[in-house]
Amino acid sequence: MELIVSHSNADMDSLAAMAAASKIYPEAKLVFADSPDPGVRDFLAHYGQWLHLTPLKDIPLHEVKKLIIVDTREARRLGDLRVLIENPEIELHVYDHHPTTYRDIVGDYNCVRQVGSTTTLLIELIQEKKLPVSPEEATLFLAGIYADTGSLSFPRTTASDLNAAAWLLEKGGDLKIVTEHLNRTLSPEQRDLLNRLLLSLQFFQIKDQNFLITKASVSYYANDASLLTQRILDLEKTQAAFSLIQMQGRIFLIARSASKTVNAAAICEEFGGGGHETAASASLKENNLEKVEEKLLLVLKNKIESSDLQQAPQPPQNQQGSQESVETLHLKDWKSVPKAIAELLKEMGKLADDEQINLFVVGGFVRDLMLGIENLDLDLVVEGDGISFAKKMAGVLKADLTIHEPFKTAVLILPDQLRIDLATARSEFYARPAALPEVASTTLKQDLTRRDFSINAMALKLNPNDFGRLIDFFGGQRDLQHGIIRVLHSSSFMDDPTRIFRAIRYEQRYGFHIESHTEKLLKEAIYSGVLSKLSRDRIRNEIILLLSEKNPIPAIQRIGKLKGLSLIHPSLRLSGNSLQILKQIPEVLAAFRETLQIQDHDIWIIYALGLFCQLTPEEIEELLMKWKFPLQDSQKISFLKSNWEKMIHELSHSVPKTPSEIFQKLEKIPSEGLVFCMAYSRNPFLKERIEQYALKFQKMKLFLSGEDLKALGVQPGPIYKEWLAKVKNEQMDGNIQTREQALEFLKKNLKASAQKKD
Ligand code: CTP
Repeated sequence: MELIVSHSNADMDSLAAMAAASKIYPEAKLVFADSPDPGVRDFLAHYGQWLHLTPLKDIPLHEVKKLIIVDTREARRLGDLRVLIENPEIELHVYDHHPTTYRDIVGDYNCVRQVGSTTTLLIELIQEKKLPVSPEEATLFLAGIYADTGSLSFPRTTASDLNAAAWLLEKGGDLKIVTEHLNRTLSPEQRDLLNRLLLSLQFFQIKDQNFLITKASVSYYANDASLLTQRILDLEKTQAAFSLIQMQGRIFLIARSASKTVNAAAICEEFGGGGHETAASASLKENNLEKVEEKLLLVLKNKIESSDLQQAPQPPQNQQGSQESVETLHLKDWKSVPKAIAELLKEMGKLADDEQINLFVVGGFVRDLMLGIENLDLDLVVEGDGISFAKKMAGVLKADLTIHEPFKTAVLILPDQLRIDLATARSEFYARPAALPEVASTTLKQDLTRRDFSINAMALKLNPNDFGRLIDFFGGQRDLQHGIIRVLHSSSFMDDPTRIFRAIRYEQRYGFHIESHTEKLLKEAIYSGVLSKLSRDRIRNEIILLLSEKNPIPAIQRIGKLKGLSLIHPSLRLSGNSLQILKQIPEVLAAFRETLQIQDHDIWIIYALGLFCQLTPEEIEELLMKWKFPLQDSQKISFLKSNWEKMIHELSHSVPKTPSEIFQKLEKIPSEGLVFCMAYSRNPFLKERIEQYALKFQKMKLFLSGEDLKALGVQPGPIYKEWLAKVKNEQMDGNIQTREQALEFLKKNLKASAQKKD
């Protein structure tokens, strides 16, 4: 028997790809690994009666000889059919468009390419084999391609998808059905109501229970309003959600709860309604939304406070409701991790076992490991006494140890300068937005729950028995694969506004995109002014980190689009001119970095100069004061406060200048400023002069030194510097060409100066 299958919770692309595969394997049966997505069920009910699907229970699995897997290469996504992968007797054929990962099933036949939809790959084969396609089939295939490419608009859409779609249109594919279906999920009223509800979200916390209340008043009647409350709960991941909807002269209370403490039915009963613990409703003959809301809050307060259940706080559910992953990343897959680091982590895992604690590496290291990018920032988390383990580690590794007792964190610096940050698994409670967290010991899960984005909230266990086990509660791996930045809960940016900058940094660094709900929350946080509650040091650090990215320009542009530059200074804009300057920087930097001895950690200053150069000297002063840039950095940026434009203008003039004149002007400019000037100006004279300065004069070896002055009887003091500068000028201008000439020049001038004094 041949079987065609796709991933669990099959979506439109899966269904279309399965149907397309059945044209290539006409004997094969189509089967869902488990219940498909509601959109797929809807399509089948309206337009897909002609498709023959066999229920999984009717398949004698032992008779399967060939398995055709479409739209996934991950065994764990095949539900109960996963067992078939492990049977070496079964021939596997794989068709998939997802990015390659180390977990991929490798079939006996593989058709794998990163196009917008898997259906496209199969359509190409159908075309090649010249198989006939009916208009119904073409419509389904088109729907698959449209669903996975956002109607051919997502950046991952390829020419192949467009070609396949065009061909399917020629075959009679009905775009009207496709678009109707893709937009059908919510009626216009439901969509409008959902928007209104989302705009009115309010978040509350009573004891350890967080919930939201949302309200709207509409003139129409929206069916299935309860669906919307469920959607909001799924989206916001609070423990419970309550909607108050005023329509047709009544107020409907709809309650959804994922917490044992918040019993939806008991709450709705207080309003004359009822239902289940997780889903309930009430219909009230009331017309004052605020009054009902007030009562609801009171009821919730009483119910929660009187609850006998003493539960640990529930971490938010992953948006897609996925469970903790139970995979293991084997050492051989740690390609981007230097061997010495892998060995070090293994050793620490053993030490953790000796101390009977669980040890994990978390955050950016795990993220970059999965992306195949080297990252030597080791963040370890200990379930147990982190401080005493840090002391043990420091002893074994002969590391310098700094302990932050109140935060239960420690930093180890190894003899080779490698830094390890170690934290105690904990959850943080925010007393008020943007405040420093208060710390209480709990478990890894809660530690991960408090982190910024799903891609940064994964951990790998290091204890020997479980070494490399991936802990992923929030779909971080999935988001990495799809290139998505997603917060774990709605108040993430409000809790820690530095995440606004972080989201943009990751998005631009990895070419990902900030998921739409996360972007909405990010914008809300910007407009709410929450950044002003944050310590200036933390914001300044984020500005520096952002400008320190390998290529910070896209991130600067993104902040500009989000109207975030004005947070740095109200007059700061990204004009076409400054963008032009910024874009020149990488090239100039590559050419002059070595000669001007610019350190890695100072490169951001050049981008800061490019970004800030349109501000007035007063505004630059304000900006430097406001963010308290370290003195040394401020001094370099302060170059923009002086009359730098005038000086550039002078040096751009074609009138000849002696090398010493040029030197005296350029000497005052920090190296970062010189690179900036080269990027700023297009003037060939200026460029040539800076080049000469950097390559020749700056490094010029003087014929004389202080020793010579001493030998000539000059009393040591600041005067030495002046005399040597005079010699240097003459040497640069070519008036002195040998040591003898230099000595002669000195003697003559010393004498003249002495006579003058007399
Ligand atoms: N983190 C967070 N919220 C922040 C800062 C950090 O949740 N505002 C968490 C994230 O889990 C992050 C980890 O702490 O992965 C370490 O933070 P950091 O070293 O700043 O970031 P990395 O993830 O290492 O990323 P980068 O490559 O930018 O250094």
